[in-house]
Amino acid sequence: MNQRIPENLLWLGTQGNTEKMFLTEEQWRKERRPEILELFRQHVYGRAPIDRPNSLRFEVIDHSSGWMNGKAVRKKVEIMFDGPGGTGVIHLYLFVPATSSQRVPAFLLICNRDKENMDPDREVQSPFWPAEDIISRGYAAAVFHVEDADPDFNDGFRNGVHGIFDPPQTPRSGDAWGTIAAWAWGASRVMDYLETDPDIAEDRIAVVGHSRGGKTALWCGAQDERFALVISNNSGCTGAAITRGKKGETVQDINQRFPHWFNENYKSYNGSEEVLPIDQHMLLALVAPRLLYVASATEDTWADPESEFLACIHADPIYRLLGLVGFEADGPPMPETPLQQGRIGYHLRTGKHDLTRYDWHCFMDFADAHM
Ligand code: GCU
Repeated sequence: MNQRIPENLLWLGTQGNTEKMFLTEEQWRKERRPEILELFRQHVYGRAPIDRPNSLRFEVIDHSSGWMNGKAVRKKVEIMFDGPGGTGVIHLYLFVPATSSQRVPAFLLICNRDKENMDPDREVQSPFWPAEDIISRGYAAAVFHVEDADPDFNDGFRNGVHGIFDPPQTPRSGDAWGTIAAWAWGASRVMDYLETDPDIAEDRIAVVGHSRGGKTALWCGAQDERFALVISNNSGCTGAAITRGKKGETVQDINQRFPHWFNENYKSYNGSEEVLPIDQHMLLALVAPRLLYVASATEDTWADPESEFLACIHADPIYRLLGLVGFEADGPPMPETPLQQGRIGYHLRTGKHDLTRYDWHCFMDFADAHM
């Protein structure tokens, strides 16, 4: 399996250095980690023009008890910001266990599906966001919709946070942020709020995403070290899956169907993945030493479970470098046999491309054990 990734991307040295030189912990932290982040910005996801805007403000517009048979308190929060192109609002829905007297850990879902999947009134209880289950296991359940950061279609980056923050009238550069980066930025703004919420243990917040949302969770978690646990569900191409030799969706497929997701530079790798200066195990390694979880599904051949597993294998050396156990696996596991010993968790679920209650309970088992 190793031959799929060239030696210089297997932690032997810095970019362009062909000598076999293993990294030291200090080199990782001070040189290689920032260098890899920069490579992903430059060649894949793009560069956000702003981090936390000075104009950022929060308004709790609902704080009510009696939800979920009295087990939960609901908050609705508006996260607002202004830029040269106007004002934006991210709507956060948050359920917190009513019985807890202490701050609780939380799962933040980046929702990329229809809004009924994140119903704050709980008339629809979708397995995509099983808030009742999350509450009953003692966690807070938080969700926002990607559309609040950037609608998921190709409009030349006029709407969403691109329209608000991009300098007007200047041509977009090859590394300007795409839509996945905009969603990741949105998740970090939600974190800005969660850090201030008196019910939330801000050092135990997980960011979760499915598919395009999983790609987003990884890019968000790679950059924003406040997230203690980063969870990718069925994220596949340009998510958790190794790109070189990947089955199913390729860089060309994704760039043609979703030209707005990544930056312009990424399109130059259509059909030539082998010259990318990174591969996706390096994105996973940016989460170290924090917790990481990757989930695959047997019928999700478009995402390619084997390539998602392989990325965990190749992210592990960075955890070891930091003195931690990363991924403990002899080979791809059987379905429904989660691997949760180290700081990288993984499972393969029987079935199709989806985010299910089974997946969620595996994430919570892992969080119970490690977070
Ligand atoms: C498409 C796309 C995938 C993506 C998926 C999703 O299938 O090709 O890359 O993960 O949509 O977001 O559901």
